[in-house]
Amino acid sequence: MLPIPHGGKLVNRFLDEKSRDNIISELPSLKKIELSKELAFEVENISTGLFSPLQGFMGEEEVESVVENMRLPDDTPWTIPIVFDYDDTLGVGERIAFTYQGEPFAVFDIEEKFTFDRERMAQKVFGTIDTSHPGVKEVLGLKEYLYGGKIFTFKKLPDPNEKFALTPKETRVLFESKGWKRVVAFQTRNVPHLGHEYVQKTALTFVDGIFINPVIGKKKKGDFKDEVILEAYRALIDNYYLKDTAVLGIWNTRMRYAGPREAIFHAIVRKNYGCTHFIVGRDHAGVGNFYPPYAAQEIFDHFPDLGITPVFFREFFYCKKCGTITNSRVCPHPDEDRVNFSGTKIRNMLISGEDPSPQYMRPEVVQVIRKFSNPFVD
Ligand code: ADX
Repeated sequence: MLPIPHGGKLVNRFLDEKSRDNIISELPSLKKIELSKELAFEVENISTGLFSPLQGFMGEEEVESVVENMRLPDDTPWTIPIVFDYDDTLGVGERIAFTYQGEPFAVFDIEEKFTFDRERMAQKVFGTIDTSHPGVKEVLGLKEYLYGGKIFTFKKLPDPNEKFALTPKETRVLFESKGWKRVVAFQTRNVPHLGHEYVQKTALTFVDGIFINPVIGKKKKGDFKDEVILEAYRALIDNYYLKDTAVLGIWNTRMRYAGPREAIFHAIVRKNYGCTHFIVGRDHAGVGNFYPPYAAQEIFDHFPDLGITPVFFREFFYCKKCGTITNSRVCPHPDEDRVNFSGTKIRNMLISGEDPSPQYMRPEVVQVIRKFSNPFVD
């Protein structure tokens, strides 16, 4: 049985035909606000039910409760504020139209306008106010006011990766049509190395299928570009996975690099997609040395009521003595025998023109990366 959506019901903020026509006829009189790609996709994620039970941008009580208690006011687990920030020029009771690339696609009914303590939000969500943390920088840079209220969407956003984009309604139908009862989700922001593959395949030994779900959207400098990640995964799945055990689907959003809190958020979203299990490995959604390597696993102790089962893995590495990829749960050999998978090391090798060895990265994946003159985010 696939899990029921978070909060009990899959939210759908897309208007039916009649309401859509009514709202579209109202558009000429509404104030229009152009959204960044990140915010526009936040609206779409709310609208497709990926962020169930949210029906719009959070109000003050919700933000407070999420920041302080990692739960919505009704006690439903939720760890990341989903907010709309703007200047002073909007008012409660106002309906505004959101546009993306100049095209209106949703309206927003403002129910609340409030100020907030950015430093406290950053400290609680990221565990730091160090501005070298990309998530902290973003929160400290939020505009003066937050506005809460429901959204009503009448159009899907243009998406260059549309063929990989599945709504939670679609993934649920897809998993059921494949007869998958136990589906493990894999979050990633990277091209796959052998460590990723081992994590995924170990999980696959006890479930029916895997949903590989890369985050597509704003990332930090030095991360891989979206199109490289997608092509690399296609190459990996085509060459190294059993037929019909893996679905590749993107999640248009941005990385927040909130480590433990983001792991819970990631799990909730995958529950809404219909996954029963969620993989959390080493330093999940981490950045630099801000979080201890397994903090994103330990936080799950606070959420026995999450409704999706986390699957924890110790770090996979290559052991020269074992002659295989393994981890500290089964490998008895000392550090000197172990070669870790390091994103930085892989990046440096690629930049210097060296190909990562087949024990590190599949040759087909390296070949994909090599097709791009610059595979990294500038
Ligand atoms: S993340 O920011 O999306 O977490 P990444 O794409 O590198 O980064 O990782 C995806 C998932 O794989 C995360 O759950 C992460 O903890 C896990 N992971 C990455 N590398 C390893 C490894 N060598 N061993 C175990 N788990 C790993």
